[in-house]
Amino acid sequence: MIIAIDGPAASGKGTIAKRLAAHYGLRHLDSGLLYRGVAKAVIEGGRDPADRDAAVAAARAFEPGRYPASALKGDDVAKAASQVAAIPQVREALIAFQRSFARTRPGAVIDGRDIGTVIAPDADVKIFVTATPEERARRRLLELQGRGEASDEAAVLADILARDARDTGRAVAPLRQAPDAHLLDTTHLAIDPAVRAAIDIVEAVRAGRKPA
Ligand code: C5P
Repeated sequence: MIIAIDGPAASGKGTIAKRLAAHYGLRHLDSGLLYRGVAKAVIEGGRDPADRDAAVAAARAFEPGRYPASALKGDDVAKAASQVAAIPQVREALIAFQRSFARTRPGAVIDGRDIGTVIAPDADVKIFVTATPEERARRRLLELQGRGEASDEAAVLADILARDARDTGRAVAPLRQAPDAHLLDTTHLAIDPAVRAAIDIVEAVRAGRKPA
């Protein structure tokens, strides 16, 4: 089984994907880490993430697992990731890895922005996870505070809106809900009920029912 989870930053999609994978015994890929890894390599090489040649070279030389996830979490890397992710040749260089991950037994849950639309258009189940920008900014702020990083809600909201605009506005593989994806709005849901709702969607699709 392949489950595609797409949605904007801090919508809850990463946690939902991880927990769905554990629930169904599937492998999990956070595809954002691939773009973050490319961005990190560009920055480490002393180049600008907007430098197309540097970004494409980094994507073609990409090795999964080169950086631990903890080294890729910062908002500077997130911003650079959304810049390199807008370059078509960067996306192209990362497609084969993601498709082969999806095809490997026993199947996978992959989360990102274009999983249901580009990477795995034939996924068994597609879920588009969303929440209002204000709620996503509130969650991101709590996360930053938990890591002891100072920030304020207005700045976090501005970052989230800028990243949303870049991800939905780019010409190639923009963030959008696939026509056959099921919408899961987590604005008023804590993580446990959100995971439950995602499992309910998967179960309904597998049973051939229309999700509630
Ligand atoms: O999901 P995460 O916040 O880690 O993603 C970082 C950035 O990588 C996103 O803002 C987006 O620009 C890019 N991305 C993408 N396609 C994916 C996953 C992430 O363009 N499938």
